[in-house]
Amino acid sequence: MSHSHSAASAPSVLVTGGAGYIGTHTMVELLNAGHNVVCIDNFSNSSPEAVRRVEKITGRQVTLVEGDIRDTDTLQVLLSQRPIDRVIHFAALKAVGESVSRPLAYYDNNIGGTLALLAACQQAGVRRFVFSSSATVYGNPQALPLTEDAPLSAVNPYGATKLMVERILEDMCHADPQFAVVSLRYFNPVGAHDSGTIGEDPRDIPNNLFPFITQVAVGKRPHLNVFGNDWPTHDGTGVRDYIHVVDLALGHLAALDYSAQQSGYAAVNLGTGRGTSVLDMVHAFEHATGQRVPHVVAPRRAGDIAACWADPTRAERLLNWRAQRSLEQMCASGWTWQQGNPDGYRRS
Ligand code: NAD
Ligand code: UD1
Repeated sequence: MSHSHSAASAPSVLVTGGAGYIGTHTMVELLNAGHNVVCIDNFSNSSPEAVRRVEKITGRQVTLVEGDIRDTDTLQVLLSQRPIDRVIHFAALKAVGESVSRPLAYYDNNIGGTLALLAACQQAGVRRFVFSSSATVYGNPQALPLTEDAPLSAVNPYGATKLMVERILEDMCHADPQFAVVSLRYFNPVGAHDSGTIGEDPRDIPNNLFPFITQVAVGKRPHLNVFGNDWPTHDGTGVRDYIHVVDLALGHLAALDYSAQQSGYAAVNLGTGRGTSVLDMVHAFEHATGQRVPHVVAPRRAGDIAACWADPTRAERLLNWRAQRSLEQMCASGWTWQQGNPDGYRRS
């Protein structure tokens, strides 16, 4: 009784874009750790069903606000009505190809949305902030593994928004010494919660490798196109640092703790430090699930890089966090989610 009372009156974490793929997994870990959670989402790339599943997994409630972070009035009301002391900011558009064809939508949503959110936070005195950045800020890597001090560059409008928001947050920290920001540069999040009830739910044909593989395995697509086998990598296919989404979620809890102790700006890689090729991933998936993944070699995809993986030592040193889950666990959990939810959150 007294426990639930203190939980109810303790300050909340505001999670923007919490109904999305990474947001749902992070809300589960926040609720399990005893945090109160307020989620704002406009459901432009998600559904309220995802939040209901989070509540089911944890047996706790999320305060859900359907709204857009660019809507200053909604934000002001939200921040004035509830004791919120920190923010995890996921809300953004994230499709690289679409960002090239619709740059204004990306600059407006990702930069405009963040500016509106920061203005509301400043007015409400909320000074602890965790931001979803991306390994895309490293552009085409000159050396591997990537440390946070590697040169930064934007190679498409999506990447430009991540780079610009990092810069804005760093400037906020310079202007206000009490401001605390951790920009988490995610490598390639894959997999799903062990319950198999939340996971990645691409609206159209998936652009990314892992959801494409699971859709081939479940029979929704005939085969995987392997985008190039002539890259300078160990088997000629592209190499990335895939990280289990639950490990990634736990990285946000570690970053929140850090931002409570330490003001100023920090950019931190969240990756495993291991490089996995497209063919390595296909084989790991087949091994973990017993499913065949038919694949054919196709031309390279425009804008791709050969290889990218993290040096994760800063996360370990600053946040005391390290990825724990194996490639096999990523494949098995992603497959459980896909099998149980062939149409994602849409009821068939
Ligand atoms: P997602 O699309 O599943 O989640 C984003 C959520 O934000 C969605 O629920 C969407 O409806 C919501 N949203 C978007 N614009 C909004 C707005 N203006 N107001 C309110 N809600 C809004 O994406 P995700 O994979 O969970 O990614 C979360 C964050 O992590 C994004 O910022 C993304 O750029 C970043 N990121 C993702 C990856 C990845 O591979 N998934 C990699 C690096 C970085
Ligand atoms: C992509 C985005 C990047 C974003 C990241 C995580 C591009 C150019 N980059 O990166 O900005 O941060 O997703 O969301 O879109 N592959 C295939 N067949 C497929 C799909 C992918 O062979 O059907 C290969 C790719 O060529 C690459 C690897 O699989 O070598 C991983 O691709 P993907 O999952 O799209 O991630 P990234 O390329 O790292």
